[in-house]
Amino acid sequence: MKSRDKITYLDNGATTFPKPPEVIKAYADFCKNIGASPGRGSYEPAEITEQKINHTREYISKLIGADDPQRIVFTKNATEALNMAIFGILQKGDKVVTTRMEHNSVIRPLLELERSGIIEVFWANVTDNGRLDIEHLLELMEIPDVKLVVTTGIANSTGVILPFWQIGEYCRENDIIYLVDGAQLCGVYPVNVLEDNIDMLAFTGHKGMYGVPGTGGLYVGKKVEKMLKPLLWGGTGGQGDLPSMPDVLPTKFEAGTPNSPGIIALGEGVQWVIRKSVEAIHQHKQNILSIMLELLRDEKNIKLFGPKDDMDRTAIVPVVIPGSNPKDIAKSMWNRYNIAVRAGCHCAPHIHFDLGEPQGTVRFSFGTMNTVEDAEYAAEAIIDIANELKK
Ligand SMILES: Cc1ncc(COP(=O)(O)O)c(C=O)c1O
Repeated sequence: MKSRDKITYLDNGATTFPKPPEVIKAYADFCKNIGASPGRGSYEPAEITEQKINHTREYISKLIGADDPQRIVFTKNATEALNMAIFGILQKGDKVVTTRMEHNSVIRPLLELERSGIIEVFWANVTDNGRLDIEHLLELMEIPDVKLVVTTGIANSTGVILPFWQIGEYCRENDIIYLVDGAQLCGVYPVNVLEDNIDMLAFTGHKGMYGVPGTGGLYVGKKVEKMLKPLLWGGTGGQGDLPSMPDVLPTKFEAGTPNSPGIIALGEGVQWVIRKSVEAIHQHKQNILSIMLELLRDEKNIKLFGPKDDMDRTAIVPVVIPGSNPKDIAKSMWNRYNIAVRAGCHCAPHIHFDLGEPQGTVRFSFGTMNTVEDAEYAAEAIIDIANELKK
């Protein structure tokens, strides 16, 4: 098989690439022509920065169905937002329900609190086909005094979409706080925090929202705004005479100079997604997913990890070549075919362990910029490598 000269980038689950030109332009424009910190000066560029950052809050609110842009708190990524939510809500004696599909940015903060004797964590299983065992999750939520449920919106290991709207409804009925890890969800699949009863939604700017790395945030719903404690204490620009963080959203949770160019560029990324529409983006990627699965499903030297069908999934296709190390396969994909894919357990160790692949997988993750031809090329390349290894 002949290699393409250009890079075929299929690691959009890690970070999307390339970025829309509007995003790059906004970043560069800020650095060249604006440069000031928001809320820290009464001169025009400082005011412009503040306005532009607030516009990004508005675009994100629109994307996720929030009623008030001030509920969007910026962080440097989803990891920081998840830490803010988990450490900011949980107290001694609290019980938490989560799933075996989670990313380490949920697993590790929870385990840290459990090891310190502060909380107790209950883990919902994954079924044999890589979907959430929703019955088990609902059963765990019946445990008396569960305070928080944390689930991913879309599993980064398999692309499986969790029924977060169903979990949210149950949480509302039972007065449980619901935190969703939206790192793989926002901009990829429709979500509406109010209709889906999500109290906190963590997002990262550099994946499906098409911003740059170093941006992310937390949607803080009404139910939690008074109980959530900040993760950081420090300067907020205004109200510098107060001995503590100002008790207003979003300032209370945004200590320190923000990543202004990143946040402004993220605003452009989110507008780009809204213009395309999340539904259309999902449909485009569904077409790619179906083709990829069709091409790989019956290959005898390739094992699909997780679901074998394209139901309730997004365009993430993890595979294993039995007897081979996924990292070696990913290296061959790059060296021979200029294809960028990620290998390993993708910071989600539990599901790989549970489904019998602790070494992880080779993960093809498609973005909005990918095409059906990219999927056909990638499928041909992995089939080629798998068949050669079996000779
Ligand atoms: C499901 C999930 N949660 C959280 C994260 C963490 O995102 P970030 O590294 O941007 O903080 C990722 C990143 O890969 C992810 O896929």
